[in-house]
Amino acid sequence: MKAPLFSSARRCRFVILISGRGSNMQSIVRACREQGWPAEVAAVISNREDASGLQWAASQGIPTRVVPHRDYADRVAFDAALAREIDAFEPDFVLLAGFMRILTEDFVRHYADRLINIHPSLLPLFPGLGTHRQALEAGVAVHGCTVHFVTPVLDHGPIIAQGVVPVMPGDTEEALAERVLGIEHVVYPTVASWLAHGKVSLEAGKVVVRDVADRAFLWSAPAVSLEKCA
Ligand code: GRF
Repeated sequence: MKAPLFSSARRCRFVILISGRGSNMQSIVRACREQGWPAEVAAVISNREDASGLQWAASQGIPTRVVPHRDYADRVAFDAALAREIDAFEPDFVLLAGFMRILTEDFVRHYADRLINIHPSLLPLFPGLGTHRQALEAGVAVHGCTVHFVTPVLDHGPIIAQGVVPVMPGDTEEALAERVLGIEHVVYPTVASWLAHGKVSLEAGKVVVRDVADRAFLWSAPAVSLEKCA
């Protein structure tokens, strides 16, 4: 793995790509500021101008850009334009946070070892869309999310960390999605903080994380109130 581009003299720079509400992006921005990482979110970029997360990022003083995929003839042209916008911000890491586009191999290789994704399942189970429905149909007892390096194969790539939640009796897709999102907001900021502190490396295709207790995050049940027990 290439040495990180940043040093103690230079803060780690993240560019975050979103397509929608950007709640994962918000959780990273908040944690970065509240915990004082040696890092900054240099820009938030979307393929959709109606992505509501853009407004929130702008309200926080973060530069935003839109690269509408419909303006380009094909994926190659779109990815080239997207990469130009991203590279203008000189990121150390590009974080995909609900970015709903399949990326070309050239794009992925351009950001080799610097492109990170969050997927709402315990990979390698349930790649692609509809992960919560897939989990309910499969009858699994646990589900969750995975933060991983991006490789040209969709929803594959070396796993950095995972968050696990239970599947409860009577769960709907929506209820399960909400529980998974809760742990996404723990796992993704934590991984971003590891990246900011230079704790993550790839060795022979496997992720090594130094000086952290655990790469697995387990859901903890909300406290049950005494009234409910009575
Ligand atoms: C998350 O569940 C993420 O794992 C998936 O898309 C959703 C994005 O949510 N890739 P948000 O835009 O971060 O709120």
